[in-house]
Amino acid sequence: MGSFSFFVDAATSEIVYFFRDHRSALRRQVFDLGEGKVFPGSLSYDEVTNQQGAPAPDAEAQAAYANSEIVYRYLESEFGRLSFDALGGPLVSHVRYGGFANAQWCTRPGSTCPAPNVMVYGTGYTRSLDIAAHEVMHGVIASEADLIYVNESGALNESFADFFGTLASRSGGDDDWLIGEDLPGHSASNPVRSLEQPTIGGFLKSASFSLANKGQPDHYSNRVTTFDRICSSTTDFFNGCVHINSGIVNRALFLASEGGNQSGVAVAGVGTGKVGRIVYRALTTKLIPTSTFLDAAKASYDACSELVFAQVVTVPDCEQVRLAFAAVGLLTAEEVAAVTQAAPASLGTLQFTAEQSTTGGIVYGGRCRGCHGATLLGGLGPPLTGPLFRNKWYDGSVGALYDFVKTRMPKVSPGSLTPTEYLHLVAFIVKENGATPGSEPMPENSQALNEMGFRQPATDTEQTTQAK
Ligand code: HEC
Ligand SMILES: [Zn+2]
Repeated sequence: MGSFSFFVDAATSEIVYFFRDHRSALRRQVFDLGEGKVFPGSLSYDEVTNQQGAPAPDAEAQAAYANSEIVYRYLESEFGRLSFDALGGPLVSHVRYGGFANAQWCTRPGSTCPAPNVMVYGTGYTRSLDIAAHEVMHGVIASEADLIYVNESGALNESFADFFGTLASRSGGDDDWLIGEDLPGHSASNPVRSLEQPTIGGFLKSASFSLANKGQPDHYSNRVTTFDRICSSTTDFFNGCVHINSGIVNRALFLASEGGNQSGVAVAGVGTGKVGRIVYRALTTKLIPTSTFLDAAKASYDACSELVFAQVVTVPDCEQVRLAFAAVGLLTAEEVAAVTQAAPASLGTLQFTAEQSTTGGIVYGGRCRGCHGATLLGGLGPPLTGPLFRNKWYDGSVGALYDFVKTRMPKVSPGSLTPTEYLHLVAFIVKENGATPGSEPMPENSQALNEMGFRQPATDTEQTTQAK
């Protein structure tokens, strides 16, 4: 255990997260195919077996060697992550693969892949740091959420590779939001992709992909399908347009980092360091192979809330992250309206007494505060107040909230509170969200709770009059 660092929640003794403290050395291997097609190619560098490589490695091999280190250091310094697999796995590159105008991260052996977990580069493609970083990030993604490379999960896979690839290459001096501007035939005004301006290069869904129509959508309402010609005229037809739709999430992550305006939503950027930590946490702890764009938006917001507790970000930062996704259409119009509305929705009267909510407040202070914050604004757990919380729960029944708290909270020792205590916690939460207590107690009966809606006025007339 000596090589692990633990961060423990003082209020609940729960382990918040841990990482391995041990630092293993960077290990790189570079093979040069010399424009040929026979793998593996001749050895240019080998830190795995420490064999002597070529005395004068080709410039492409040198670039692969140098770029691998930049990406490795980025993952290590930002996330304490050791290489693509978090286990210190070697970064292996095969460069100058003949007749291959591309770069790829191999997940399994195949006709253009000599082995799993290696990179293969066509001539010219190694020199671009952001492309190299993008490829290593595919390795990171494959060993975490392993997002399936088709449709929305595939476009998320592409977007995260672009986003983390950009952050890693920025750490190495490629200080822009462009991908592939250093590739043969490309330039800063004609990059392969731009996270800031996905539509650069032209974007018309109904037209075939061409030199004048090779951009991406920047809003969810403009996402494409295999029926749209911009996609069906490319090999992206076979993967559900992953390199096209990735522009939507790319733009959200750009806005969250740098700020900007889109679709009437103003976002104040919170910086690449914070957004990197947030998205990394979403990728490594929340997303699964079939996750969608909306899942990623929610997971990022949840991950952000958890990082408030670790004091990496603040509650207002998470609001900006949420707005960044809203700006590209990834939260519903209703949620966007709720977020931008200054005044919280007011509630109808609800059947509970001041005594119940006061007792609930005491239980909250002992059992819930450590994760949800003294003022319910969230920490390790999400906020239990605010427009999104209200939108989520207030159209349902009080019983649903009661059941959630009873079966899922507190996370450390479920079932250790009495049903009455759970009831009082619910009374406390609704009071903190603006409901006014009356004279009739909240019933300790699940049928009655299920029939009781937050917006529903209390049946007791005396209480209704009193609360008005
Ligand atoms: C160890 C941390 C932790 C503790 C303690 C904890 N929660 Fe939570 N809570 C969470 C997390 C994380 C979530 C997010 C959902 C999940 O993971 O199940 C959550 C979700 C919730 C939600 C749903 C919020 C939403 O937006 O959907 C409610 C309500 C809630 N908690 C209430 C409570 C109450 C009441 C207590 C005290 C009895 C409590 N929690 C104790 C971590 C905690
Ligand atoms: Zn890719």
